[in-house]
Amino acid sequence: MKRILTGAVMVACVATMAMAADTVVMPAKNGNVTFNHAAHNARLECKVCHGGGRPGKIDINKATAHRLCKGCHETKHGPTKCLDCHKK
Ligand code: HEC
Ligand code: HEC
Ligand code: HEC
Repeated sequence: MKRILTGAVMVACVATMAMAADTVVMPAKNGNVTFNHAAHNARLECKVCHGGGRPGKIDINKATAHRLCKGCHETKHGPTKCLDCHKK
């Protein structure tokens, strides 16, 4: 029984991963930000951005996004200029 349950949980996890869109567009009045999930996920664990639990919608705004996105980009050499992320 335990074995069957574990299998079901694993299937649920794989299904969740497949559901994450390759790109997520975050609207911003100074130019929408297109976030490439697939490229980031190739080297990052979900929990880096989504925290524990099941990944899904993040409550993202200017402050949290800049801290999360630019914070990592500054140390890991990702893009940090406004127009690198905000595209009109
Ligand atoms: C570098 C940061 C980052 C990583 C790593 C990341 N995500 Fe996301 N994810 C985001 C952002 C930003 C959004 C969009 C925020 C919003 O609008 O809710 C998002 C949205 C989502 C959503 C809801 C929107 C959609 O795409 O349908 C799901 C589901 C999701 N992520 C799953 C995952 C899974 C599964 C992983 C790991 C394989 C993962 N994410 C890794 C940043 C990340
Ligand atoms: C934990 C580290 C980390 C986090 C968090 C992160 N990134 Fe990145 N990102 C990177 C790195 C490293 C690169 C450079 C990848 C390369 O050049 O191959 C990158 C590249 C990019 C690029 C340019 C290449 C592409 O994929 O289009 C954009 C745009 C981008 N990130 C947006 C975001 C946004 C928006 C967020 C927040 C929602 C975010 N990133 C969060 C590490 C991160
Ligand atoms: C690494 C990517 C990245 C960089 C670099 C970046 N931003 Fe952002 N910015 C975002 C994300 C993601 C959001 C959140 C969008 C949302 O809430 O839907 C955001 C939100 C904003 C907003 C709020 C827009 C609105 O409609 O509420 C402003 C203003 C803004 N950024 C200005 C800037 C300026 C100015 C710079 C350069 C100094 C900059 N950003 C650099 C990713 C970035």
